[in-house]
Amino acid sequence: MKRRTRYLLTLAFTLPLYLTAQSPDPLLANVADKEALVLDGTWNYIVDPYHTGYRDSPRYDFPEYIDAKGNFVEYGFQAGNTLKVPGDWNTQRDELLYYENLLWYQRSFMAKKRDGKRYVLYFGAANYRADVYMNGEKLGSHEGGFTPFNFEVTDELKNGDNYLVVAVNNQRKEEYVPTLKTDWWNYGGLTRSVKLIELPDAYIRDYKLQLKKGGTDRLYGWVQLSDSIEQNITLEIPELKVKKQLSTDAKGHVDFELRAKPILWSPENPKLYDVLFQTETDTVTDRIGFRTIGVKGQKILLNGRPIFLKGISIHEEAPYGGGRVSTADQSRQLLEWAKELGCNYVRLAHYPHNEAMVRQAEEMGLMVWSEIPVYWNILWENGHSYRIAEQMLDEMITRDRNRANIIIWSVANETPKKEARTVFLKKLIDKTREMDPERLVSAALHEVRYDKTTHTKVIEDDLAEYVDILSVNNYCGWYQNSDCASLKWATAFKKPMIMSEFGGGALQGLYGKKDERWTEKFQAEIYRQHVQMFDGIGFLAGTSPWILKDFKSPLRMLPGIQDQWNRKGLISEEGIRKQAFFVLQGYYQSKE
Ligand code: GCU
Repeated sequence: MKRRTRYLLTLAFTLPLYLTAQSPDPLLANVADKEALVLDGTWNYIVDPYHTGYRDSPRYDFPEYIDAKGNFVEYGFQAGNTLKVPGDWNTQRDELLYYENLLWYQRSFMAKKRDGKRYVLYFGAANYRADVYMNGEKLGSHEGGFTPFNFEVTDELKNGDNYLVVAVNNQRKEEYVPTLKTDWWNYGGLTRSVKLIELPDAYIRDYKLQLKKGGTDRLYGWVQLSDSIEQNITLEIPELKVKKQLSTDAKGHVDFELRAKPILWSPENPKLYDVLFQTETDTVTDRIGFRTIGVKGQKILLNGRPIFLKGISIHEEAPYGGGRVSTADQSRQLLEWAKELGCNYVRLAHYPHNEAMVRQAEEMGLMVWSEIPVYWNILWENGHSYRIAEQMLDEMITRDRNRANIIIWSVANETPKKEARTVFLKKLIDKTREMDPERLVSAALHEVRYDKTTHTKVIEDDLAEYVDILSVNNYCGWYQNSDCASLKWATAFKKPMIMSEFGGGALQGLYGKKDERWTEKFQAEIYRQHVQMFDGIGFLAGTSPWILKDFKSPLRMLPGIQDQWNRKGLISEEGIRKQAFFVLQGYYQSKE
């Protein structure tokens, strides 16, 4: 049945809008490996704060009929207003810097449809909601600003000229994830690449290949085809002399296990293997690393050995100036700064970053903490909020499950200690473990009890029972407390701790004195005191200070100092290192 018919039929039942807005098709894995027409570049746009484009006839999603049918319209994509895709709109037009509403993108493209091929329209991300239309037909909608989604368009795609329209809306709503308030700029738009992917009539949609838990000489995984058909598959890992014949069941699925003794991926040797899946109709290649990750007592073990995570937190913002990262060079620059600090680990905050960032980090030997934006005070008892959080978790894990460098999935950041929140997060943690039993699960906590008599912070949070690692954001010396060097930490939980955030703000170039807030010396002193504090925390297994570089935030409006920038970066938005950068670098070098 044609997609449009299906859509109109569902509309006919007048279900609530979000139920009728068709969901995307199951996510296609390893898109980088596919034949694709990349639709990045210059798109036309119309700003639509009154949502006219949804109501007028013809709506903005229909090709313009100004000449053909003489309809009276008061809009026009060909007016010459254009935006670069990928990219947020806020930093491309002065008048869009604070824009938080609906904007329509449009571009046309030529396609050559080939017999026996199928076509999938893929979006790396669109913040926050997207409604997608092709040649006047609605393909469907997606909610969530930082994870990929795709629609099969084999029926809707024309051989020749195609008219693609995407309505993106970055309005914040209480029931959304994140909710109304965040400490980062609400960059809206088609913030990651758009691709038209050509696939065989039956193809490999998804797969997993990892070390089997508990050892280093058996691999396991599964393959899921696009259709419920039986096919023979050859799995090859040439360097490991693996060539395994598999056959899918009637659902197009096959589980497998095999013996192999790979060199293990590690920061010192980020070894990746060429992997080939060959079916009767499709070929998929990937580069996959193998490693074990676990906890033992209060240690984190990588490949069975204790490791200290020398990290830094990073927002997905361009290294120079503001705006969402939109090129591989920008993400590489951020990661090279992390390497220069001496990091073996990065906390990609507070949402899944683009796939190139994760893959570059994997090649550079940087372990990754990847998180969904369940940030601050979500509507814990709202069904829609939970569904979206779980959908984002599923999309994050589906996209990156085969990346050896991702060692931690995080389900939340700084959420209030109340029962509804713990119930919400426990469900997400269970879902994470069900989807991916090998990786560690955490969440950044922040409500820690301070015992004044002993100058001790005690980690006691009912979420602590469910996570593998106790991660705490602590702002001793900035938001609270002082004399951080002698601050002690305690917990009843025999688990490793990561200090997932600490730090303070400094305006680059304002050197001042170490007791003068907002100066580089003040920020450097916070880092010096934390380095001393760390030596006293026996169960500390890592840290990811807040944050690599200054980033834009509507919460940070102190004139002359912040001016819309959160100044806790170790590097300014011009790429200039502050004194604290070298304090942390020295500490990490001492941890070698
Ligand atoms: C919080 C939060 C960050 C925020 C930081 C700050 O811990 O996790 O997103 O930017 O503190 O106050 O700067």
